[in-house]
Amino acid sequence: MTGPDVVLKSPDYLALQSALCAEAMVRFDEPLARKTTLRVGGPADCYVEPASEEDLAVVLRFCASHNVPVTMMGRGSNLLIRDGGIRGVVLCLNHPSFCAIAVSGHRLTCGAGARLKAVANEARRHGVAGLEFLEGIPGSVGGALRMNAGAMGAAMFERVRSMRFMDRQGGTHERAVTDIPTAYRSCPLLKTHFALSAVLEGTPDTPEAIQERMTAFSQKRWDTQPAAPSAGCIFKNPSTIGAGKLIDELGLKGTRIGQAVVSEVHGNFFVNQGGATAADLLRLIEVIRTEAKAQRQVDLETEVQILGEDHGAS
Ligand code: EPU
Repeated sequence: MTGPDVVLKSPDYLALQSALCAEAMVRFDEPLARKTTLRVGGPADCYVEPASEEDLAVVLRFCASHNVPVTMMGRGSNLLIRDGGIRGVVLCLNHPSFCAIAVSGHRLTCGAGARLKAVANEARRHGVAGLEFLEGIPGSVGGALRMNAGAMGAAMFERVRSMRFMDRQGGTHERAVTDIPTAYRSCPLLKTHFALSAVLEGTPDTPEAIQERMTAFSQKRWDTQPAAPSAGCIFKNPSTIGAGKLIDELGLKGTRIGQAVVSEVHGNFFVNQGGATAADLLRLIEVIRTEAKAQRQVDLETEVQILGEDHGAS
């Protein structure tokens, strides 16, 4: 929605809007909480869903030349947006032109906006094994690349063969996986660049056998993870012990700040019981970190991406 006060405050964004093709979505002061699985956080100054790579390049060049901060959002499943929202432009590659999945042999070329569940289903349909673990991750290919997302003992970059990406001036690049440094839950290149697509590779198997593994993974997830709104695991697993197991052993499940609660099902999931704020969740994170440090000398590092400003900032 374009409120009149916002139009007055951000005339440059209107110039940006007119430089994009008609299919692009541009919104001002756009609420972001409902675009995240945690359902907290304030608005984006300007929210853009470009309709093509050329559109995306236009946005990035605009932001670079106007010194406007730019934030890429995936499906919002690993995000904690602070209550004051995000300044500048927030991008999301939801348009169908970024969501294609093309299968050739045992390789899938997947757009950054494609849902991981869709990738897993396409792989199964074509008898490509090894991507079953993506089935229950509620994210996009771009988000999974940025985070080197993992589940069920597998991680995204173990399946990537190459990746196309855009720099902040709108230039496109392609790299083989051997030239992309990655770590546990991180692809540093994507802190400064934006994934466009990736080629994933699996191995042959029957759709039935693949389905069986997907069903088992899904069952495990339902049995061990909460269904309430969350951002998945809040902390990275320390090298010595799983964060969920540690929080459980410390008796911290059920710890609550307002409507933000450490899940009784899995200690590394913080759930929004309805009406939690980002401030509640951030305080809960600090409480748990302090306890882990005091009682077990473990430094818990957040896995969830924390973005934006506190209320009343700036
Ligand atoms: N455990 C407990 N109490 C808990 C939680 C776990 O004792 O409250 C124990 C479990 O019984 C198990 C061990 O800890 O023996 C490991 O638990 P789990 O299999 O749930 O794995 P995790 O290490 O806690 C990781 C990923 C998850 C992924 C699961 C399943 C991280 C930080 N987490 O969790 O990823 O879904 O494995 O493969 O790497 C995410 O990244 O957002 C995420 C949810």
